[in-house]
Amino acid sequence: MSQPTTPIESQDQWEDATRLIRGGLARSPYGETSEALFLTQSFVYDTAEDADARFAGTSNGPQFVYSRYANPTTQMFEDKLALLEGAETCRTTASGMAAISTALTGLVQAGDHILSGRALFGSCRWILDKHLPRFGVETSSVDGPDLAAWRAAIRPNTKVVFIETPANPLLEITDIAEVAKIAHEAGAKVIVDNVFATALYQKPLTLGADIVVYSATKHIDGGGRVLGGAILCKQAVMDEAYKDFLRHTGPALSPFNAWVMLKGMETLELRVARATQTAAALADVVADHRAAKRVFYPHHKDHPQYAVAQKQMSAGSTLLAFDLGSQEAAFNFLNALQIVDISNNLGDSKSLATHPTTTTHRSMSEEERLAVGVTPGCVRLSVGLEGLKDLSRDIGRALDAA
Ligand SMILES: Cc1ncc(COP(=O)(O)O)c(C=O)c1O
Repeated sequence: MSQPTTPIESQDQWEDATRLIRGGLARSPYGETSEALFLTQSFVYDTAEDADARFAGTSNGPQFVYSRYANPTTQMFEDKLALLEGAETCRTTASGMAAISTALTGLVQAGDHILSGRALFGSCRWILDKHLPRFGVETSSVDGPDLAAWRAAIRPNTKVVFIETPANPLLEITDIAEVAKIAHEAGAKVIVDNVFATALYQKPLTLGADIVVYSATKHIDGGGRVLGGAILCKQAVMDEAYKDFLRHTGPALSPFNAWVMLKGMETLELRVARATQTAAALADVVADHRAAKRVFYPHHKDHPQYAVAQKQMSAGSTLLAFDLGSQEAAFNFLNALQIVDISNNLGDSKSLATHPTTTTHRSMSEEERLAVGVTPGCVRLSVGLEGLKDLSRDIGRALDAA
């Protein structure tokens, strides 16, 4: 594998668009244009000494020994993600939840405390509320936008602060820089789930976060094909907290999925920019319709944390949410859609509408859902790449039926 020659400028100086196309590229001796897919479990060694050196990490040649540890295709994907994020290093995993569970568990032991925003993707809530407490890890949560609540909830044993912003499903915004200050004063590390914003519109590491996690399943793939996740942070954090955990517990991303996502990355900026533009326009369409009681879109003036969204996100999101007042109205809306699909995924080229109460947030109690504003009338819309006029017509018609 050879790195492209960059004698004059370093990849760090590139724009995001160039990083997405060129970043991380390492060509094999065959000189292929498109990244090679190394669909191999293991590697062979010229000599026993070579095997010895590779396992010892002292080889001057190729480093790969086994694809649970590292793989050339997966590494190209990781290097591209790290470059886009401005992170020292990246490791990828088989799903977003594998990345998040690794990111959380790698930093704590029995007796430690994890503090999180209340509005989190359901599986993250399960890890914090049900799973980690079984191993003696304390967990608690606060209203993400309420800085006084973060200050009050930090404990002497808080080791991790976990934020999802914008949060699933109502795009609630937490001030990353302010919460990072509170966390760091207490000696805790900050993990940000950046799925809804993408690395294009929010760079948590520059705002003070220590670790960024992704479900690459969403915008990074963008075609609804494969699952994947990523952890991005400083090399020292990776070495100390995650390297051995990843190696020995084995949540590795398949090289095939890494290759699919490498191709997804090439169009990430175009797709996310277009879908974000459409989502912003659709937020206005929904806000102007009598059926919508509330609309949630980060760069929409009505958003409860509009000022923070303006400060830390360079654009809105490809997602919006709205409240139609009752489950019946939400179901009428969903069933009247003719172009947009009813689905629980997001970040796809196809626009997808979700009823969080009965699907993605079903495992939460009604009380827990209402505490984060998820009422039975809420609908989440992941905006894709269809034409704005067609989507406006489809959504307008469905709102009429709500
Ligand atoms: C914000 C957020 N984080 C994490 C995940 C989990 O990702 P995955 O499905 O790739 O495990 C999701 C999935 O919907 C999500 O919406």
